[in-house]
Amino acid sequence: MATPHINAQAGDFAETVLMPGDPLRAKMIAETFLEDAKLVTTVRNVFGYTGTYQGKRLSVMAHGMGIPSASIYTTELIKDYGVKNIIRIGSCGAVTPDIKLRELFVAMGASTDSKVNRMRFNDHDYAAIADYGLLRTVVDTAEEQGKPVTVGNVFSADLFYGVQPNMLEVLDKMQVKVIEMELAGIYSVAAQYGARAVGILTVSDIIPTGEATSAEERQTTFRDMMEVALAAAVK
Ligand code: HPA
Repeated sequence: MATPHINAQAGDFAETVLMPGDPLRAKMIAETFLEDAKLVTTVRNVFGYTGTYQGKRLSVMAHGMGIPSASIYTTELIKDYGVKNIIRIGSCGAVTPDIKLRELFVAMGASTDSKVNRMRFNDHDYAAIADYGLLRTVVDTAEEQGKPVTVGNVFSADLFYGVQPNMLEVLDKMQVKVIEMELAGIYSVAAQYGARAVGILTVSDIIPTGEATSAEERQTTFRDMMEVALAAAVK
């Protein structure tokens, strides 16, 4: 079997898939953290791997950038390959300096300027939310590991460049403290096709000040996030 965007065989994916945005990051995760990782899909160089972690089968595959790309991959994984749990591991920009660089942010809900959920929901406002069980597992795991996390609403923006300056004020006022680009799509795809999803993000930049993590800091925070994601994935 294959789908338009995944050329894996039936059964090639584990029930749980960790999803970074970047295909090379998926490759690095598979090579660094999984045992017996096997490359299962290569279409468009969006690599997907399945191996084991602490004896449990686990997959990792990139979802690309933005809601359209992430929606395509998550839909095919869930609908055609029987994936049950999606854990996005990504980065986000903070809308206020109250949120600190390198902090872990777990997305309980995802607001958006994308129209995808209105298209799904008779033009009404759908509350795209994480699966509660997965969210709880991720937050408990971070606490066990002594890593502080903020849990809250994120903004899944369609534009990386050109977010209106007053939008940052609106987001801050409405307690939406970070911006990323996929979760409002991923959460609603999971709901639509009957899977569970959660997003774990590291704060890579503070949008109003332009402050950003260094390459070295990104490595450390990435490792912190991976330790939480991997432990939560096999619980
Ligand atoms: N905007 C959207 N997505 C992001 C950002 C941002 O500033 N930083 C990291 N991911």
